[in-house]
Amino acid sequence: MDDPRILELRERRQRARLGGGEERIRRQHEKGKLTARERLEILLDAGTFQELEPFITHQGGDGMPVGEKIPGEGVVTGYGQIDGRTVYVYAQDFTVYGGTLGEMHSHKICRVMDLALRDGTPIIGLIDSGGARIQEGVKSLAGYAQIFRRNAQYSGVVPQISVILGPCAGGAAYSPALTDMIIMTEKTSYMFITGPEVIKTVTGESISQDVLGGCQVHMEISGTAHLAGRDERESLLLCRTMLGYLPSNNAENPPHFDSGDDPTRMDAALNSIVPLDPTVAYQMHEVIERVVDAGSFLEIQPLYARCAIIGLARIGGHSVGLVAQEPSVMAGVIDIDAADKIARFVRFCDSFNLPLVTFVDSPGFLPGIQQEHGGILRHGAKVLYAYSEATVPKISVITRKAYGGAYVVMSSKYLGTDINYAWPSAEVAVMGAEGAVNILYKSQIQQAADPEAERQRLVIEYRAQTGSPYRAAEAGFVDDVIEPRETRPKLIVALGAIREKIATNPPRKHGNIPL
Ligand code: HXC
Repeated sequence: MDDPRILELRERRQRARLGGGEERIRRQHEKGKLTARERLEILLDAGTFQELEPFITHQGGDGMPVGEKIPGEGVVTGYGQIDGRTVYVYAQDFTVYGGTLGEMHSHKICRVMDLALRDGTPIIGLIDSGGARIQEGVKSLAGYAQIFRRNAQYSGVVPQISVILGPCAGGAAYSPALTDMIIMTEKTSYMFITGPEVIKTVTGESISQDVLGGCQVHMEISGTAHLAGRDERESLLLCRTMLGYLPSNNAENPPHFDSGDDPTRMDAALNSIVPLDPTVAYQMHEVIERVVDAGSFLEIQPLYARCAIIGLARIGGHSVGLVAQEPSVMAGVIDIDAADKIARFVRFCDSFNLPLVTFVDSPGFLPGIQQEHGGILRHGAKVLYAYSEATVPKISVITRKAYGGAYVVMSSKYLGTDINYAWPSAEVAVMGAEGAVNILYKSQIQQAADPEAERQRLVIEYRAQTGSPYRAAEAGFVDDVIEPRETRPKLIVALGAIREKIATNPPRKHGNIPL
């Protein structure tokens, strides 16, 4: 017969494991959702999860039922491993008071956040919560404040990733919004500050949870989410994949993986990928795929501001952050959303020692009243700021257009970029040849016997002389003009040379990036 004290421990553990009870677990499954513990099993390497504070309960009062104290307080916390590296985790348990956050729920989350900071490991939140627990009033609001403060203070020290696996309402949504990456789940995850009921009361508008704050909304319209899984399993596996590119903290370099892709591999198809006619588009995604280690490109925010591309990849086995324009979407123009997308990602990479590789093909900032009134100056300035302050190795490759503001903001030499390459198809100029010729040679064109023929002649001449990459190379604005097929080996050698570069910004408390 076992010692009764051991039996009591086992019984208490079992009760903690059941959270809100079998009936609520059944309802959770019926909605197509997993329990907090099932999720942790998928997220972490098998058998590595170590739980902390499983017996914590709410402290009663404030309308909380004193008799009903569910051990664990609606959140499972602890640590485990992903690909052999330690991470701290918290997984909200919707079966306990709807995963809502009260004082002790907050305490448990803050505890693992503090341990993650102390140990220099990522912190991952699995979110499934109705937000602030109504019964606990200000204790619950203060609990959120404690988490938000840690989110902000630990930002750039350890990676913070949020995986949204159910409702994420009110305060529950602001913590993810402060983290580095948000991974949503199709059909079952929602994020909003106020739900449909409140909106109906305040503004009279009727809207479903999905149309208000579903996965598609945050991936395509708001830009709040970075990646999406088709189901919970895929979302959790995406989190594992993402961490594979990142160091555990800002003092480490990202892990190296030998991808087996030959570092000297040249890709002949790249030599003819840019059409001779500058008005004809091509796919920058294809350029990226052909340059990086095979299959290593993890695009981030793929459906938001699609004229810009950001993502993680490996080049020669080393993680890099990739930034580019997609010329087949709005000609690769930089608008407000693209500027925000690029700037935040550049700062993320700089925080975690990910070298930046930038492919440039953009006609510039998007002209228009809406953009001007929407603050394109303020938003575009973020890109300038981010590239200028980034001290990680930076390499740029101008594939075609680098006109005006786009040349300057997209990792240009005097923003501190270490190595600048151009392809022979590059056009570096204040504006496109057509626009420039119309302004510079207006009267010459008007007076010509055949104005259109004269205009065409001038455009060709301008493009060959003024916008030519050799003009930029002659003046030292690009370091070399390379054959497109050489891009991969050139990048690998360059990244190897500058990986350990030492660069610092002037001492300061912190900068004041235009927000
Ligand atoms: C206390 C809550 C709760 C809450 C849900 N529950 N939300 N308890 N406080 N905020 C409880 C329910 O009473 C229920 O308990 C259980 O959780 C499951 O909830 P259901 O409504 O049955 O589930 P479902 O139909 O799936 O709907 C889930 C939901 C909905 C979409 C999250 O419950 C909802 O809209 N809740 C309110 C969300 C919200 O507005 N939160 C914002 C709070 S204000 P039982 O016992 O029946 O299982 C806030 C401000 C912070 O967060 C600001 C910081 C900046």
